[in-house]
Amino acid sequence: MASTHSNPIDGLDFVKVTESAALAASRWMGRGERDEADGAAVEKMREALGEMDISGRIVIGEGERDEAPMLYIGEEVGRGGHEVDIAVDPVEGTNLVANGLPNSIAVMAISERGGLLHAPDSYMKKLAVGPKAAPYVHIDAPVRENLEAVANALEKPINEICVVILDRPRHAELIRDVRESGARIKLISDGDVDACIATTIESTGVHVAMGTGGAPEGVLAAAAIKCLGGNFMGRLQPRSPEEAQRARDMGFGDLDRVLTLDDLVMSDRVVFCATGVTDGDLVRGVRFFGNHAKTHSILVNSAGTVRFIESTHRLGARPRGL
Ligand code: FBP
Repeated sequence: MASTHSNPIDGLDFVKVTESAALAASRWMGRGERDEADGAAVEKMREALGEMDISGRIVIGEGERDEAPMLYIGEEVGRGGHEVDIAVDPVEGTNLVANGLPNSIAVMAISERGGLLHAPDSYMKKLAVGPKAAPYVHIDAPVRENLEAVANALEKPINEICVVILDRPRHAELIRDVRESGARIKLISDGDVDACIATTIESTGVHVAMGTGGAPEGVLAAAAIKCLGGNFMGRLQPRSPEEAQRARDMGFGDLDRVLTLDDLVMSDRVVFCATGVTDGDLVRGVRFFGNHAKTHSILVNSAGTVRFIESTHRLGARPRGL
């Protein structure tokens, strides 16, 4: 394997970063303390990034500099080396961890400088599908049309198609439309990064993700989907005039513009990795046994290589965290 220094975009070392975050967050599973879980993961993720031979710049992180002490947008991380941009979510699904529910992950995407959209902390309407259906859907098409297109592409009756939607009042009409089309629905309480990526992996039984969630999460999901060959489309949905202005200040002239995979992830050299905190569709959560803990991670790169990595960590030893 090439060293991280010579070829950072292919480095397996990034997995150690999400492993560290997941291990730390998993200690808080089911304890009802979402901020504690997040804080523990942020600290360990930052520590792990600090030990890498990269000149990393956080482009999606815990918030603006004045609101986040660690992993804030613009923070420089690493000991020096190749220049990369990094999008992180140390715990995607903080409520899921706090409540011991499935599908929380520690997640990160890395690209060459300038390769990831600097998404505002706003909402985004999203549509994600796997590789076979990728050319046949559009975020502006009617729900039924998209679902019929997916069913045709997958050569399945529409009543075998499974659509993942965040369980929110704002999705009442979407849920009604999907039900009327005959497709099945998996409502999730949180964690749409995992849901979007799951559409690209056949064994998950998830075929489409639809609805509105966080815009930064949209970029993270798009990074994985670009590597995996599916399709992801988004459109910013500011929740207030202030959010809309903030997006404009960040350079989004036309807020209604459809954001394609190439708009969200401009670089062709991207790595995405995620480690399970709790069990999920993509990866299993952290398991403790004896003096050890086991983590499960997914690592994908823009060459289309998908690695599922199971690691056993001796507690109290490196890599970091317990
Ligand atoms: P956190 O990890 O920040 O808690 O976000 C979880 C999440 O469910 C995302 O997966 C999703 O994009 C977003 O929150 C939805 O936001 P909201 O809870 O405001 O509907």
